[in-house]
Amino acid sequence: MLGMRRLRTSENMRKMVRENSWSLSDLIYPFFVEENISEKVEIKSMPGIYRISERDIADEINELFELGIRYVMPFGVSHHKDSIGNDCMIEEGLLYRIIKKIKTICPEMIVIPDVCFCEYTSHGHCGVLTKDGLVNNQATIENLAKQSIVAARAGADILAPSAMMDFQIKEIRKALDQEGFDHVAILAHAIKYASSFYGPFRSAAGCDLQGDRKTYQMDYANSNEAMREAKLDEMEGADFLMVKPGTPYLDVVQRLKQQTLLPIASYQVSGEYSAIKFASKAGALNEKDVVFESIMGFKRAGASLIVTYFAKQIAIWLKE
Ligand code: PBG
Repeated sequence: MLGMRRLRTSENMRKMVRENSWSLSDLIYPFFVEENISEKVEIKSMPGIYRISERDIADEINELFELGIRYVMPFGVSHHKDSIGNDCMIEEGLLYRIIKKIKTICPEMIVIPDVCFCEYTSHGHCGVLTKDGLVNNQATIENLAKQSIVAARAGADILAPSAMMDFQIKEIRKALDQEGFDHVAILAHAIKYASSFYGPFRSAAGCDLQGDRKTYQMDYANSNEAMREAKLDEMEGADFLMVKPGTPYLDVVQRLKQQTLLPIASYQVSGEYSAIKFASKAGALNEKDVVFESIMGFKRAGASLIVTYFAKQIAIWLKE
């Protein structure tokens, strides 16, 4: 007789037919570092997530390494913002200092900085503004290349450009190769939607903006366009392709998997974190079960790497 339940009769039987798995080595941990604060500050909209003080980087990294985390994505929370985000293009700047510090105390840790300007510009947009308030593509990609060189000099292993400018991967790859950083890889935010799920991040990273990012981030109604974005980034030299946000866009991950041989990453963004966290705090969800289920969803769709604010908590759960 046909039937499915005979393969579900015990945990060992279920294990035999389990099609996907994941481990800590699939997870990238994003975290926030603020300059000029004396103690870590909890982000109200993301319970359990902090802006740590720059002076505590060593402790945090040692703790993460001890827990088994090997890939981190640091975000700087700057007190030195201006109209173009100069601070992340200079060697004394926050971005440089964060990366340098991590690589100095823990050379084995793979450091994957977000390469963008919104955390460093006074207006909160991801690049250089024109007179009419649009983001100037050419000027911004030239600056992204400068930021990339600074990050590479500091010791970044992989760069994660997220500004969604046209030709940013090509410009960054060219600059890296010219400056002798051909060993530095690029994890392209190839498909990044203009999403309201980034809400909590904007207060976390202190980059509120007026208006929106719809002239550079993607329209969330589109999937063909996403495949074109990914193809361009692959042709321009990306080593990894990322889809962002995560859970509401797993159809895009699955479709991308059919189109590319590059490793795919997906980003479970701040709003996804907060939704699970607050629902769990209210007793509506079992946090650990739901988090594990969500991570498996990414794997099933075809992502080989998942960027998640839960990574540290997951590492703690896995040790228990
Ligand atoms: C910056 C950037 C953003 C996020 C990551 N990098 C914000 C944005 O594009 O508005 C959001 C991540 C999150 O919500 O967790 N370009």
